[in-house]
Amino acid sequence: MLPPSDAASPRPAKRIAVIPGDGAGVEVTAEAVKALHAVSAAAGATLEFQHFDWSAERYLRDGTTLPAGAAEMLAAEFDAILFGALGDPRIADNRHAADILLGLRFQLDLYVNARPCQLLDARLTPLRDRGERDLDFILFRENSEGLYVNIGGVFKRGSADEIAVQEQINTRKGVERILRYGFEYARREKRSRLCMTDKSNALPHGHGLWQRVFAALRAEYPEIESRHLYVDALAAEMVRDPAQFQVIVAPNLLGDILSDLGAQLVGGMGVAPSANLHPGRVGLFEPVHGSAPKIAGRNLANPIGSVLSAAMLLEEIGWPAEAAALREAVRASVREGKTTSDIGGSLGTSQVGDWIADRIARQGLGRPR
Ligand code: NAI
Ligand code: MG
Repeated sequence: MLPPSDAASPRPAKRIAVIPGDGAGVEVTAEAVKALHAVSAAAGATLEFQHFDWSAERYLRDGTTLPAGAAEMLAAEFDAILFGALGDPRIADNRHAADILLGLRFQLDLYVNARPCQLLDARLTPLRDRGERDLDFILFRENSEGLYVNIGGVFKRGSADEIAVQEQINTRKGVERILRYGFEYARREKRSRLCMTDKSNALPHGHGLWQRVFAALRAEYPEIESRHLYVDALAAEMVRDPAQFQVIVAPNLLGDILSDLGAQLVGGMGVAPSANLHPGRVGLFEPVHGSAPKIAGRNLANPIGSVLSAAMLLEEIGWPAEAAALREAVRASVREGKTTSDIGGSLGTSQVGDWIADRIARQGLGRPR
């Protein structure tokens, strides 16, 4: 445990790029920034924020999605990126979201999508007789290839003979680096169990590669109990007995789906955080949820997913005590029912953010668990 920071030796300021995006993303990001201000004040250290307005609004106004050079600028000038969500009913093809979010993930080569599924309070899970110790795993979704590379095409569009092809890319380097990340994480965090998932029985070419790389890598990590489950079996097991899982590594599309299932097991889309990472490079931290158009702009969105993403950000920039304090404040808000209505409370988005920031201001960095 790190001691509270020493005023005599201030840490260097960290620079955070903030991209709130659209809808509920804007509202929850404001609360995460509020919480980060509170922890930096408690730590006596500086976080500098710079906002970027890349969003549906901006795209509709002047056609800008992700400006040229933006990824390089973020990589050169910032320590981390805090991201909200993108999606707007006025932009049916989601063009701006593809350019901005997928653009940043691909251009920064953020090949790890880390999605922790940790139960904050037993009352939040829809599963019967499950407590905080039963639901505490992290899912690493491959984030740079798979079915998300947008290779394919449509032939005879609109006709009865229409054909649509969407190709899936699996590279040995891509598969190896995400699996290795999972194994290294397990080793570092003293998590003894890792599960790799795929659908290699039906996709023998693409996912057969996952099988071969997995077989080679697990030999390098004999202390970690590693196993394989087909994705359909894993989905069932996550519901039947989630306590058996600690680290899960999945291809892009499968990880996308499993992480929403995981989010639901620990309280829903409103509480699920994520990080897009490439070790040694600037990371992008965002709630798992989207812009939630039905509740956007009404002070209803749960800010916890975004605040917990900010805690992951603090961890990555080397502020673990602050990350722990932030998580503890979130836990306290859930314990005391100071939450939005999706998880049973009656507060608005900004009131939850105020409560969390205020708790940090009152308790300081305290004794994080
Ligand atoms: P969504 O995640 O926005 O909403 C799914 C459900 O969860 C809705 O019922 C919503 O009300 C609820 N929800 C989401 N965030 C919440 C929060 N903070 N608190 C309480 N409830 C919350 O996904 P949906 O509806 O499929 O997509 C909406 C838009 O967001 C679309 O344009 C989609 O493309 C985009 N999207 C963007 C993502 C991103 O920026 N990373 C991820 C997922 C969707
Ligand atoms: Mg998703």
